[in-house]
Formats: sequence, structure tokens, C-alpha cells
Amino acid sequence: MDHPAWRPAFHIAPQHGWINDPNGLCHYRGRYHAFYQYTHDWPGSELRSWGHATSTDLLTWIDEGEALSPDTPEDRTGVWSGCAMIADGGRRMDIYYTGNVVLEGDYDHVHDGREANQILVTSEDGRSFSKKRVLMRPSDYPSTCTRHVRDPKVWEEGGELWMLLGARNRDGCGEALVYRSDDGVAWTHHHTIRSREPLGYMWECPNIVALEGKSYLAICPQGLESETLRRHNRWQAGYLPLDASIYETTLVDGEGFIEWDFGWDFYAPQIFSAGDGRSLLLGWMGTFDEDRSSAPDGLPWCHCLTLPRELSRAADGRLLQAPAREIEALRGTPADLGKSVQLPDHLADIVIDGIGGAGMLILDGALSIELSDALLTVSFADPEIAAGRTRRKVELPRPTRMLRVIVDRSTVEIYLNGGETVFSTRWFPKAAQLSVSSGIVCASSQVWPLIRRG
Ligand code: FRU
Repeated sequence: MDHPAWRPAFHIAPQHGWINDPNGLCHYRGRYHAFYQYTHDWPGSELRSWGHATSTDLLTWIDEGEALSPDTPEDRTGVWSGCAMIADGGRRMDIYYTGNVVLEGDYDHVHDGREANQILVTSEDGRSFSKKRVLMRPSDYPSTCTRHVRDPKVWEEGGELWMLLGARNRDGCGEALVYRSDDGVAWTHHHTIRSREPLGYMWECPNIVALEGKSYLAICPQGLESETLRRHNRWQAGYLPLDASIYETTLVDGEGFIEWDFGWDFYAPQIFSAGDGRSLLLGWMGTFDEDRSSAPDGLPWCHCLTLPRELSRAADGRLLQAPAREIEALRGTPADLGKSVQLPDHLADIVIDGIGGAGMLILDGALSIELSDALLTVSFADPEIAAGRTRRKVELPRPTRMLRVIVDRSTVEIYLNGGETVFSTRWFPKAAQLSVSSGIVCASSQVWPLIRRG
């Protein structure tokens, strides 16, 4: 049964079916393009295609339908994740993705019984796509790799093209393969990036971002142990600061791995250039964890993407994620939070600044966001609203001075200290109105209703 009151107004979500990783994020010919892993015949199938949405403001998304389907021998069990690179001076969109092939039979599907093919398609208009061209097959990867090699990220620097691939090696460790090319078609393995101490058994969705001259490698390691105050999800997504350029880096320090987001619903983010100097990150607002639902009550669609987040570098080298500034244009008349405020819909931008100590913000009497010293505790009082989410504590690098919470119907994104720590969660509110109450001692606290245009 559909619940219109749970459908996000500004986040990308499918009408029907399942969505996971954002793919091919780019700004091309004046529009933002967000592709994503999509399964129309969900539940029942895990066969992935690429869904497609476009926008001019990062918040109003037009559904463009399915862009790429698994219709060749090399991608017959899934058009898996990949990227878009804008080529030819802004004239062409080049899409690189992994064609997944899982063979039927008695295989372990790690060392055999699986193929990962890296495939290129091009587009002149962002809507129609060329024939698929297979660039790399299993025989093209280093012999130290298992059959898990995927999620190409391609970029151009100084006339050379570079590709990162996530991989699982035969020692049971995650790693990133770096390839080089002159023409985007013929690729040679340049080097491999590993961590000094193993950091998970597989790295998915590698990405690279440079901010103020410093490079960061983003990865999604599978297989890290959960700890009380971090790494709560089955698989994590985070970044590692690099000491040298990606072209020279072969070893990274896994101790430096910082999670992008500590919430119940976050994985597989992608970073792209907004075309105006900003680096934006968008993640999958979901996970494969089975202890919580993102489609309670027979909802015909499952999961969504996060808001686009602007990345910047803090003085201590951490990366900050702030909601894309475009969201401020949707703000209506603010109310002073005082002790409590009610809004007619679950669409709000809450900013509490100059925080002077411990305290709690509560949404709908059901979701509490508690700040104490250098700890964040998020907990649900109502299991129906939480759909399997319970309580989580997160250790912060420092006490919180500023808290921002954006509610878009069944999504809640919590940003502390300008996006130094972020926590994303889905929830499934029952009340028609949003009620916000705060016991946080602060210099100012405001709640803006967000107004959907058009
Ligand atoms: C990450 C991931 C990718 C893969 C895709 C398949 O969530 O497992 O590594 O390409 O999802 O849907």
C-alpha cells in the first residue's frame, strides 16, 4: 500500500521497485543527471538496471525512466554500478559501469562462477545511449584478484584518463585497482592500492576527491567489525586522507578511515563535480542490512538517495558535508523553536546554533537526537515508526555546537558541527503533523517549513 505522506519531496526515490547506489552522477549540458541501481520487479528480483532522473536545482527530480538494462551477454545478470565522465569539452557523456555475470552452478562465486566486465556507453544528449562496448574482462585484471572487481570511477587529468576499480584479492583483502588510458577504451593496470593492515575483505564503489590540494580516497569496505560507537552497519562507507597523489599511492593507513555517515541508512556514495566548483556527494539512503525495513506496510517502493551534500575540508583535514545550499530556497517562514513547534507536513529544516551543553531534540515524540559531551545518541521510542531501527551511539570528534536536521517525510538527515558528523535514517511517521521539541540550551534555534514548488 502506498503512503503519500512517506514519499520524499526532494530526495530521489522510485515510484515502484527497489533503488540502491547512485550511479553516473554528473552535470551535463545544464542539467544534473542522477542514475541509480534499480530493480523494477522488486520484491522477487535482484536484477539491476540503471534508473535515471534529471534536475536543474538538485531538488526537483524528473524521472527519465530506465536508461540501461541488462540486455547483453556481458551484463546479463546486472548493469551494476559505475560513473559518468563528461568528455570532449563538455559535449559527450561517457558512462563506465560493471556488467555483472553470475553463472549458475556449484561455484563459490568469489574465485569462480562470476564475471565482472567493465563496459562503456556514450551519449550526446544524456538520454539516448550508444551500443555497449566491453573494455575489460576477467582476464584483464591482476592475477592476485578474485572475481570481485567492479564499480569503475573514471576521471581525466593532464590529458590522461584514470580508472579506479574496487576489488577483493585472493588474500581476502579489499583493494583498489588503478588503471590508465589514453583514449578511454584501452586500459592498462597502473598500480594497486591496499591498506597496511587489512581493511575489510572487499572494497566497493571507490571514489577520489581533491579538496584544497589534498586528495581523499573514498571506499566502501565490506567485512569490518562493528564497534559500540562506530561501524554499526554491516558494510561501511568512508574516506581515507592520502599523503601523496593517487597516482603514487600504493599503501594507505586503514586507521585513518572515517565514516561518511553513522546512520542506519547510508551506503555506496558517489562524489561528482557540480560544474560550479563544488564537489557534491550523494549516497544511497539504505543498506542491505536485513534487520530493518525501508518498505514497511507493503510499500511498493524501497529506499531512496540522500540529499546532495557539498564537501569541504576542515582545518583538521576531516571532510565536512553540508546539505546543498539549494535547499535554502525552499524555506518558508521560520518559527523560533523555543520548546516546541508543529508543522503541517513532515518537511522541515531545523537549525540549532550556539549549543551550550547536553540536551535532546525530539521529533513526533518518537525519534530523539541526544547530544552529550562528545556523544550523539539517536533512538526511536516507537518500533512501528522505526521499522527495525532502535538506538545508536556515535563518538564525535568534539562536542556539538551546531545541529541541523532536515526532515523530508520518511527521511531524516542529521548534520553536526557543519557536517563534520552526519547521521541518516529513514522513519515512517504516523502523525499528519510534524512536532519538534527541544531541550537543548543554545543561542538560537529555528525551524523552517520546506515548501515544495511546482
Ligand atoms: C554496492 C554494490 C556495488 C554493485 C552494486 C550492485 O551497494 O554492491 O558494488 O556494483 O551494489 O547493485
